[in-house]
Amino acid sequence: MRYWYNQAAVNGAFITPSLKTKHSNVFLPLPDLRKQLQTSNYKLKNMPGYELWSDKERKEVNDVLETGILMRYGFDGPRKGIWKSKELEAAVNETFGSKYAQLTSSGTAALTTAMSALGIGYGDEVITPSFTFVASFEAVLSVGAVPVLVDVDDTLTLNPEAVRKAITPKTKAVMPVHMCGSMADMDALIAICKEHNLILLEDACQSIGGTYKGKHLGAIGDAGTFSFDFVKTMTCAEGGVVMTSREDIYLKSDGYTDHGHDHIGVDRGADLHPFIGYNYRISELHAAVGLAQIKRLNEFLTIQKKNHRLLKSILEQVPEISFRRVPDPVGDSCSFISWFLPTEEITRVVVAELKAQGILAGNFYWFDNNWHYIRKWDHLKNAITLNSLSPELKERVTQQANKDFAASDAIMSRCISTSISLLWTEEQIKEKGEKMVSTIRKVLQNRAVTI
Ligand SMILES: Cc1ncc(COP(=O)(O)O)c(C=O)c1O
Repeated sequence: MRYWYNQAAVNGAFITPSLKTKHSNVFLPLPDLRKQLQTSNYKLKNMPGYELWSDKERKEVNDVLETGILMRYGFDGPRKGIWKSKELEAAVNETFGSKYAQLTSSGTAALTTAMSALGIGYGDEVITPSFTFVASFEAVLSVGAVPVLVDVDDTLTLNPEAVRKAITPKTKAVMPVHMCGSMADMDALIAICKEHNLILLEDACQSIGGTYKGKHLGAIGDAGTFSFDFVKTMTCAEGGVVMTSREDIYLKSDGYTDHGHDHIGVDRGADLHPFIGYNYRISELHAAVGLAQIKRLNEFLTIQKKNHRLLKSILEQVPEISFRRVPDPVGDSCSFISWFLPTEEITRVVVAELKAQGILAGNFYWFDNNWHYIRKWDHLKNAITLNSLSPELKERVTQQANKDFAASDAIMSRCISTSISLLWTEEQIKEKGEKMVSTIRKVLQNRAVTI
C-alpha cells in the first residue's frame, strides 16, 4: 500500500499529508516516511498518536470494512455485532472516568454540541483564554454566544483573577482550555464557577491523558471535550468526544449530533425529534482507528513523558530558561515542553537563530502564530463571517476581541513550546537538546557583550 505525502512537508515544514497541491506530491511508501520522521530535521505539528500507526489500527478498521457498515447507527443485522463507536464511547468512559461519552465528527463539533447541550446560546457570554485554538471561539459563535477572551498567566491557561474581572450578568460559562498537554488551575476555576453559578466546560482537546489531582482533564467540569484529529495524542483521523457525568447533557448531546433523533427503540425511521439537531456523527471507520489508539494511550504517554523528561533536563542547564507553571505536575501529559526566556527581544533572536541553524522545527513561537493567539486573529477582531451576524452580536464580539491583552502578550512573547515526538531516540533528543542549548547560550552571551 502506498500513501500520498508532500515531499517538501516531510523534509522541513509541517507534516500535513493531503493538504498541499497535487503537483508537489510524490508517492512515499509509509516506512520511508517513518524513517524521515526519525531524522531530527523536521517540524512536528502537535501531538503524535499518528506516529505509531500499526497493525492494531489496521485490524480495527478491517473489522468494519469486512461488514461494509460504515455508519454508527442502524443496520443491526448486517453489521454482525460490530459497533466500533459504541465500543470507543465505553472505552472513553473507562479510560477517563467520565460517566457518559458522545463521539462527534471533530473536536470543534464536540465543543458546539457541549455548548448546545449545556443551554449556552443567544446573548450569553463564555469566558475563554486569549491563547487557544480558533475552534474554541468558533464554537462559542456557532451557538450565538459571545466569546469573552481573557488573559492567560504563566500556566498558559486562564488566569483566574482575569476570569473574575470578566464576569458580568451575561456570563453563562467559563471554558478553560488545557493547552499544550497541561492544565488550568482547576481548583480556582471551580471555586469561581460555584460562587457565581456558572457552567464549567473544559476544552481538553489538546490534553488527552492529562490529569488534575487524580481526575482526567475533560472529565472534571459539567462537560469536557477531546479532539481526535490527526495531530492529537490519540487520533481517529478526525473525531471528537463530549464527556460528562450528567445524564441530561449526554442525552442532549446524543440527539444533537444526529439531527435531534431521540434514539429510542430500534427503528431509526420511527425516531421522534424532541429538538432540532445537526449531523456531527463520527463514522465507524474513524471510531475503529480511535478504538485501537485508546488501547495504546498508556504506551504513547509513557514514551511522551520519558522523552519530555530527558529534553527538559537538558534545557534546565540554562539558568535563564524558566518553565511553564503546571498546577499539578504529576498530571502533565507532556506532549509539549513550554519554556520562557527573559525578554521578548531575546526570545525573538533565539527563534531567528534556531531557524538559521535549521533546528526551529518542532519549536513553536505562539506569539507570531496565526492559529493560536489573539494577536493574529484579525478575522475575529473584525468579526468577518460569511453569513450576517446580528448587529448586536457583531458589536459585542469585536469589542471583546479588541481589548487590551498586554498581560497575555507579556507571557506569550517570551514563550516557546517544543513538541515531543514519540519516535525520537535518546541520542536524537540529546543532540536536539544540546543544539538548542548551545544556540540559546550563544544568544545570551552575545546580548551580555552588547550590553
Ligand atoms: C484547543 C483546541 N480546541 C479545539 C480543537 C478542535 O478540534 P478539531 O480539530 O478536532 O476540530 C483543537 C484542535 O486542534 C484544539 O487544539
